Amino acid sequence: MKRAADASTGKLAGRWPVVLLRETDSTNQRALEWDGEPVLIVAERQTAGRGRLGRSWHGRPGEGLAFSLIVPDDLMPPLAEVSRLSLVAGLAVAEAIDRVAGVRCAIKWPNDVLLGGRKVAGVLVESVMRGGRLRLVIGVGVNVANRDFPPALAKRATSVALAAKKEVDPALLLGVLAASLARWLAQLRCEGFLGRIRDAWRARDAVLGKELVWVRPDGGKVVGRAEGIAADGQLLVRDGRGNLHAVLSGDVHLAADHGRENEA
Ligand code: BTN
Repeated sequence: MKRAADASTGKLAGRWPVVLLRETDSTNQRALEWDGEPVLIVAERQTAGRGRLGRSWHGRPGEGLAFSLIVPDDLMPPLAEVSRLSLVAGLAVAEAIDRVAGVRCAIKWPNDVLLGGRKVAGVLVESVMRGGRLRLVIGVGVNVANRDFPPALAKRATSVALAAKKEVDPALLLGVLAASLARWLAQLRCEGFLGRIRDAWRARDAVLGKELVWVRPDGGKVVGRAEGIAADGQLLVRDGRGNLHAVLSGDVHLAADHGRENEA
């Protein structure tokens, strides 16, 4: 990858020194274990990239962007807002892809970034206690230049190149992503999730008003209609009996797609 950082500071978005790894297991793992000031770790190849809910994240070298950033102290959300961080990160990624590729991404709760109904990027937020302090890591995987996908993903995944019919410079995208993440993290820290963030997220909600299946962490399923995200970031789903469920964890699939979704 070409140099992505601002040449005058060597930092992305004026904040994160960039650590470029040719190969690593998972950039999230490297960031969780990183000993030093907050950095942005980007890998040309991950051998054990991970996704939400224990899934894997695959990407062939040269096709995707895989990076993790450590949230610096001055962008740390208040504790009460930490659970909303993954929604905010998905929003930042969607906005950055829009800017660079001239498209309009949607988001499937909590943070799958979609183009044309297919997943173009995913976000995995992880945390660890280090030296008695909470460290938050935002991991982002974007399909940038992929022209095809393994059969298991082919119907549900896309890339910026396929969806926007445009070659995008990964280094440029990385810079815009870092700036977008910094902006939305500052927004979360200063004003919280309600207001601008929730409004912007709602405007991209891919499942609003649609029939979906919520697969709970215990494997149980609830079928219902999505009623949007609540003030606290939970997804509201009304089942056939009229009961309203607040979805905090697990996964949701559009009812039409359910049964075809088994990966990140
Ligand atoms: C998902 O959609 O399930 C989340 C995927 C997140 C993948 C990224 S790639 C960079 C970072 N390192 C990882 O191991 N995972 C995240």
